[in-house]
Amino acid sequence: MKAMGFDVITIFPEIFHAYLGESILKRAIQRRLLDVRVYNLRDFTTGKHRTVDDYPYGGGSGMVLKIEPVYNALNSIKGDGAERTVVLLSPQGKTYNQNMAETFSTSSKRILFICGRYEGIDERVRSFVDEEVSIGDYVLTGGELAALVIIDSVSRLMQGVLGDDESAKEESFTWGILDYPHYTRPSEFMGMRVPDILLSGNHKEIWRWRRTEAIRRTLQKRPDLLRKARLNEEDYRILKGLCPDEHKNIQNTHNMEVENE
Ligand code: ADE
Repeated sequence: MKAMGFDVITIFPEIFHAYLGESILKRAIQRRLLDVRVYNLRDFTTGKHRTVDDYPYGGGSGMVLKIEPVYNALNSIKGDGAERTVVLLSPQGKTYNQNMAETFSTSSKRILFICGRYEGIDERVRSFVDEEVSIGDYVLTGGELAALVIIDSVSRLMQGVLGDDESAKEESFTWGILDYPHYTRPSEFMGMRVPDILLSGNHKEIWRWRRTEAIRRTLQKRPDLLRKARLNEEDYRILKGLCPDEHKNIQNTHNMEVENE
């Protein structure tokens, strides 16, 4: 099986070593399912001060990441000839979601992240970039957390990264809806009981209960997700039982989408 490959250009490599050195991602790297190479932008500077940023032309506050070290880093990394998608992380990018995670996870190319800093990066860097991605409508101090969010969410979709019993395919967000409620021992805590069905051992009924609760939660908390979700016949039946009006709206929206395809 081919490993999922990521390259990261950053001025804070330690952030990556800390996060990738723990838990599931650490195990995936050890098992060679995941290959993350982190490059320190400072190693691609020329002057003796190893300067990565400079004052903005036109004045104003804050520093701007320089183009030359980024260009040198890209050239050096691309020297191995591997195919790559170059992704600039910035709040101006396309908003990241589970569909993008799935697309990245099936890509045969390595993904190379350029982590910007919040003050900005020389605009001309964008001419070397294939995609610009944001992880949400808020401003982070840099792209490092965004890169880790993407590496984490893509990696867990790769076969073998999660154990069989934690397979990402089981997670309801992969169908576009919220997860069902989870419980573990004790079966009663301060008067709060675990639903009897989960103690029944009836796997078919448990599955149906979980699916119903996942749909119920999505209806309550994120009805917008249901309009885009991948629902099957059984799901429509569950939805009809929970909320007949919403069921009609959602089925109409889906039918319209199918007709437009
Ligand atoms: N850098 C700063 N803010 C960001 C965001 N929201 N997404 C991706 N990169 C960023």
